[in-house]
Amino acid sequence: MTTLLITGGAGFIGSNLVRHVIETTSWNVVVLDALTYAGNLRNLEGLETSGRLSFVHGSIADESCVESVLADFNPDAIVNCAAETHVDRSIRSARPFVDTNVAGTTSILEIARRNNVGRFVQVSTDEVYGSLELTDRPFRSNDSLKPSSAYAASKAAADLMVLADVTTHGTNAVITRCSNNYGPYQFPEKLIPLMTLNALEGRPLPVYGNGKNVRDWIHVRDHCRGILAALEKGERGGVYIFGGSEERTNLEVVERIIALTNAPASLMEFVADRPGHDLRYAIDNSEALVSLDWKPHTSFHDGLRETVEWYRTHLAWAQDVRDGSYRSYYEQHYGRTLQ
Ligand code: NAD
Ligand code: TYD
Repeated sequence: MTTLLITGGAGFIGSNLVRHVIETTSWNVVVLDALTYAGNLRNLEGLETSGRLSFVHGSIADESCVESVLADFNPDAIVNCAAETHVDRSIRSARPFVDTNVAGTTSILEIARRNNVGRFVQVSTDEVYGSLELTDRPFRSNDSLKPSSAYAASKAAADLMVLADVTTHGTNAVITRCSNNYGPYQFPEKLIPLMTLNALEGRPLPVYGNGKNVRDWIHVRDHCRGILAALEKGERGGVYIFGGSEERTNLEVVERIIALTNAPASLMEFVADRPGHDLRYAIDNSEALVSLDWKPHTSFHDGLRETVEWYRTHLAWAQDVRDGSYRSYYEQHYGRTLQ
C-alpha cells in the first residue's frame, strides 16, 4: 500500500483515522471531503507537516470529482467514511442521507471498480441491525437488518449496494459496522461532546425520554484500529463488527460527565424522547478477535476521562465548529423543549 483515499476525512472518525494512519504507517493519505456542517479542516491540524496528506474538497456523489481524484492520486484503497451521520437530523430531513449515504456510496463504489482500486472499505454502523431488548444477546455480523431511523436505513441500503457489487462484479470490498464512538474531534451534536461542552459551559444537559437507553461505547482509536485490520486482513465481502464491550445507559454517561466536569447535577433535564428511539445496541466482539485479531484497548472509564479533558482544553475548537448553521439547528431542535 502506498496511497489510501479516506472520504469524510475531515469529520470525526475520518480525521481520527487520517491521524492514526499518518502516525502508524508510511502511507500517503488523500482526503476527499465535502466539508458539510460536520467536516472541518481544523480536525486535520498539524498533519500537513507530515508531507503525506493531500486534501480535495468535493462530494463522493460528484462523479467527475471522484474520477479526477482517482486519476490524480491513483489510490490503492478507499475507506469510505463520508456520510450524513446524525439520527436526529435524519428525523427532520431524510433526503441528504439518501443522497450521500446511498447514492454517494453507490457512485464512488462503481467508479472505484471501473478504475481497479484494489480495496474498498465501507464504514457502517451497528444501527443497521435495529434495536435490542435488554435481555437479547449482542449483535452478530450476520444478524438481519432492521434499521429504525432514516440514518440507519440509509446505511443499511449502502451496505446492501456494496454487497451486491461484491456478488455481481467480484469487487474487493469489506464492510465494518461499529457501535457508538467517542473521542476527540466529535461534532457537538452527538451525546458525549454535546453533554461535555454543555456541562463545561453551564448549559442544560437534555436527556431524551427516561435516559435508560443503552449504547455500547467504543473509543474512536479502537474503531480506527478495527478499520485498518479489516482493510488489511478482511475477506472480500466480509462484514466486521466492533464494539467497546462497554454498555452504559445514557443516564450513567451523563452522570459521569457531570462528575468529571464538576458541573451541578441540576443541569440535567429530561426532554421529549426521540421518535423511534432504539432502546439498546451491543456488539459481540468475539468474531473480530478470531477473524482480525482485534479487540478494544481503551476502557470507557479511562477513555471518557481523557475525552472530557480533550474538550476542556479545546474549547476554541468547539467554538469554531459550532458555526451559525449549527446554532440555528440547536435552537430549532432543543429550543422549545428546554425553555
Ligand atoms: P461525521 O458526521 O463526524 O463526519 C462525516 C464527514 O463526511 C464530514 O467531514 C462531512 O463533511 C463528510 N461528508 C458528508 N457528506 C459528504 C459527501 N457527500 N462527500 C464527501 N464528504 C462528505 O461522521 P462520523 O461520526 O465521523 O462517521 C463517519 C462514518 O462512520 C459514517 O459512515 C458513520 O455512519 C460511521 N459510524 C459512525 C459512528 C459514530 O459513533 N460516530 C459509529 C459507527 C459508524
Ligand atoms: P447519539 O450520540 O445521537 O448517537 P445514536 O443516536 O446514533 O446512538 O445519541 C446517543 C444516545 O444519547 C441516544 O440514545 C440518544 C441520546 N441523546 C440524548 O439523550 N440527548 C441528546 O441531546 C442526544 C444528542 C442524544
